[in-house]
Amino acid sequence: MDYVTLNNGIKMPQLGLGVFQVEDQEIAKQTVLNGLKNGYRLIDTAAAYFNEKAVGAGIKESGVKREDIFLTSKLWIQDMSYEAAKKGIQTSLDNLQTDYLDLYLLHQPVGDVYGAWRALEEANKAGKIRAIGVSNFEPARLADFAQFNEIKPAVNQVELHVFNQQPAAIDYMHKNDIQPEAWGPFDEGKRGIFTDPILTKIGEKYNKSAAQVALRWLLQRGVVVIPKSTHEQRLIQNIDVFDFELNDADMKQISTLDIGHSEIVDHHDPEFIENIMKLKVHE
Ligand SMILES: NC(=O)c1ccc[n+]([C@@H]2O[C@H](COP(=O)([O-])OP(=O)(O)OC[C@H]3O[C@@H](n4cnc5c(N)ncnc54)[C@H](OP(=O)(O)O)[C@@H]3O)[C@@H](O)[C@H]2O)c1
Repeated sequence: MDYVTLNNGIKMPQLGLGVFQVEDQEIAKQTVLNGLKNGYRLIDTAAAYFNEKAVGAGIKESGVKREDIFLTSKLWIQDMSYEAAKKGIQTSLDNLQTDYLDLYLLHQPVGDVYGAWRALEEANKAGKIRAIGVSNFEPARLADFAQFNEIKPAVNQVELHVFNQQPAAIDYMHKNDIQPEAWGPFDEGKRGIFTDPILTKIGEKYNKSAAQVALRWLLQRGVVVIPKSTHEQRLIQNIDVFDFELNDADMKQISTLDIGHSEIVDHHDPEFIENIMKLKVHE
């Protein structure tokens, strides 16, 4: 496993396990157990994934020491204000059965993100969250947000994969010491990524799958990746990406796959924002 060092000096594994869309509590717990058994030490959940309790139960049952795990969760839009965020942080801690989180993110750039950030800053200073960050912030928003807060975000988790490469956004984050983290590193399986001819052909040279090449490409761009799978064999495959290196020609060829936009979300579409605002994580 490789690690990155965040702007506050904390080390974060460069690859972890995402558990979005795993709402069945038993499957979520088993996925965490399988991940930890197979070497994963970063787990990425969120209040809005409705599985924090199962993730916490999986961690407990695994026997892996809490301090050996890098645990991320996220504050949902419903709690995006100073007072609500204080409660939201505590709810995540309670659900995950832990005294501290390694990373806590503002899940979406929606609502009173400045107020919520004050609560995250306080929790960070109180030792309840080791690093604080944001998610789905585009470069211009990130520039504004990083400037007008006491603590700069340590991480920005955004959609990044071979079909939506966002080179300028990644550059901006690296230049400003904000760690890019890729959600949807497989484009959630869209565009036939797992049988893509370019990724497959490159993979054959190294005895790796298209999925492994897709992850390796992100890792070599200095991005943290959190692929999701509920299948143990795929979990094993997805973490087995630290024993080969793509060369410049491979990297260049993969850059031709970029379509330059997301086919999953559209943060410029008011209807999309209105829809995500409707999701409630508690009463
Ligand atoms: N911050 C945000 O707004 C945001 C948004 C989305 C996601 N995320 C985070 O990012 C994580 C990853 O993104 P994601 O879950 O949306 O999508 P993803 O990781 O890009 O893709 C997951 C899909 O790929 C399949 N898969 C995984 N490994 C495979 C392999 N080796 N071969 C073939 N198929 C494979 C999975 O199927 P099976 O599970 O059936 O194996 C699942 O259908 C999430 O779990 C979550 O933690 C964050």
